[in-house]
Amino acid sequence: MSEKIKTLLEALPYIKKFFGSTFVIKYGGAAMEEESLKKEFARDVALLKYVGINPVIVHGGGPMIGRLLKDLQIPTKFVDGLRVTDEKTLEVVEMVLSGLINKEIVKNINDMGGRAIGLSGKDGRLLIAKRVEDKDIGLVGDIVKVNVDIIKDINKHGYIPVIAPLADGADGFAYNVNADTAAGRIAEALLAEKLILLTDVDGVLGNDGNLISILTKEEVNILLDKKTISGGMIPKVTCCLDALAAGVKETHIINGKIPHAILLEIFTDSGIGTKISGGRQ
Ligand code: ARG
Repeated sequence: MSEKIKTLLEALPYIKKFFGSTFVIKYGGAAMEEESLKKEFARDVALLKYVGINPVIVHGGGPMIGRLLKDLQIPTKFVDGLRVTDEKTLEVVEMVLSGLINKEIVKNINDMGGRAIGLSGKDGRLLIAKRVEDKDIGLVGDIVKVNVDIIKDINKHGYIPVIAPLADGADGFAYNVNADTAAGRIAEALLAEKLILLTDVDGVLGNDGNLISILTKEEVNILLDKKTISGGMIPKVTCCLDALAAGVKETHIINGKIPHAILLEIFTDSGIGTKISGGRQ
C-alpha cells in the first residue's frame, strides 16, 4: 500500500472518534514566533474545524510583551520568575495580548479558511480571577470561575474562539493570568476531550533523554517523585494532571517547533509528543 493511503487510513478512525469533540489548545513558544510555524499552526486549526472538531485556542504573550515594555521604557521586575504586574504593565500586557497577538492569530486562521473570533477572558466575563495571594506580584490572578457558555455558542456557530488570558476580577481590577493554567481551566469547564499544550520541547523525557510517548496520571506522579520530570516541565504536567482530575479525557504535551505537530499527534497512532491520560485504555 502506498505511504499516502496508509497515512490517510491511519487518520480516519481518529476523525470519526473526535467528530464533534472539543480540544483546548494552548498556543505559545516558537510556534507563535516563527512566521512559517504561525501559518502552519493556523492551517492545522482551520482543518480541525473542517473535520468536525471544535478547537479552542488559548494563547500566551511571549517575548512581545517584554519587547514593548522595553520600547516604552517601563521597568519590569520579576519575582520567582513571574513578572510583577502594576497597572501600567497590565495596560501593555492587554494591548499586546488582546490587541496585537490575538488579532494576528485570528487573521492567520481566517487566511487559512477558518472563521476565528478573538476574545479575552474579559469578554462576556469568560474568566473571573482573584489576586494571587502568596506572592506580591500585583495584578496577576488565579482563575476562580469560567463562564463557558460564550465559547459553546461560538463553537456552535462554526467559529473558532481564540482567547487572550486576561480575566475580570470580582474586585473591579483586571488580571493577567497564566496561559497554561487558563487553557487547563477552560478545558475543565468545557469537559473537553483533549487539552493540548504546545511547547518548545518534544514532551516528557525519561532519564535517558528519550521522549516518553504515553503516560498515565500515576506514572507522571512517580516521575515527579523521582525528579525525572523537573524544571519547566513540572507546571506543564501539573496542568495536565489537574485537567484530567477535573474530567478532561486526554492531555498532550507536544513540540510546536515541529511543523504540523497538532495533526501528527491527533491523526496518527503513535503521535509525536507525550500523551497523558487518566489510565491505560
Ligand atoms: N492520535 C491518537 C490520539 O490523539 C494517539 C496519540 C498518541 N500520542 C502519543 N504521544 N503517544 O489520541
